[in-house]
Amino acid sequence: MTDTQPAKSGDPGAARLAADRMLRRAAQAWFCVAAIGQTAFVWMILAHYGRKTVSGDMAGWNDKPIIKGYVAGDSLGNLLFAVHVLLAVVVTLGGLMQLVPAIRAKAPALHRWTGRVFFVTAFVMALGGLWLTCGRPTYLSLVSAGLVSLNGVLILAFSVQAWRMAVARRIDAHRRWALRAYLAVNGVWVLRVALMVWAPLTRGWGMDRTLSGPADIALQLCAYVLPLVVLEFYLRAQESVSAKAKRAVAGLLALVTVLTALGVVGAVVILWGPYML
Ligand code: HEM
Repeated sequence: MTDTQPAKSGDPGAARLAADRMLRRAAQAWFCVAAIGQTAFVWMILAHYGRKTVSGDMAGWNDKPIIKGYVAGDSLGNLLFAVHVLLAVVVTLGGLMQLVPAIRAKAPALHRWTGRVFFVTAFVMALGGLWLTCGRPTYLSLVSAGLVSLNGVLILAFSVQAWRMAVARRIDAHRRWALRAYLAVNGVWVLRVALMVWAPLTRGWGMDRTLSGPADIALQLCAYVLPLVVLEFYLRAQESVSAKAKRAVAGLLALVTVLTALGVVGAVVILWGPYML
């Protein structure tokens, strides 16, 4: 059957193939939108933090609204902040590269090396992020500190699992844990995108300045829990024999793609745009 031929009604095999294709395309559409949004995030990091750091203007980090960037006299905190934001580029681009099927198929050695770099960087980012949050400390409210710390713990747990499965050559399990690690790593990116959907649409309902309003709490939790739940639906739909289940999850992914696209536009216009030039 070609892409243009509709599945014959009453042929469950053909219907399943068509639903598989729909599911695959919905996942690809989300990935394309996410790749654009994550590239914009990386662009902002390089244009703002990268440029200020290279030119030695650490105090300039604070030209962008952040809680605690450069602090005079806090050499360790400043150093770890710089390492954290600059490694954000490596982990974000590394994660994107790992998901490109052509790289996995045509350059498996590159895939293995980027994988190692991705997991080690994710580990360093999560540990560094935990230190910035609890050790420096940097948070707006205890609840927001707890929620981002939970994100950090999930990054550590999923990265260890993905690495262990790769070493054990359990490729299917490795793929599942690596996808979970990728989504946990991108929790901070999803949060910014989700805030940029919620705030304009609801005029900031349930949000406050300390990230502890009901909507703030839900968004911070959903930033990593919701993508992980959608991923579980996706993995089960891939394995399912039910064309209906595959189509339902493809529909869910289409909705998530539209929301992600809205959030990416909002994040670029409101959050990152002023620091991207
Ligand atoms: C691994 C994925 C992560 C990425 C890509 C990432 C990226 C970033 C970026 C770009 C910033 C600069 C703030 C901005 O301009 O938006 C930042 C700051 C920060 N990150 Fe992360 N981060 C990650 C994980 C974490 C985790 C897991 C934690 C906590 C456990 C954390 C804690 C912090 C803290 C406390 C700051 C300073 C925030 C401020 O002063 O406003 N990060 N991170």
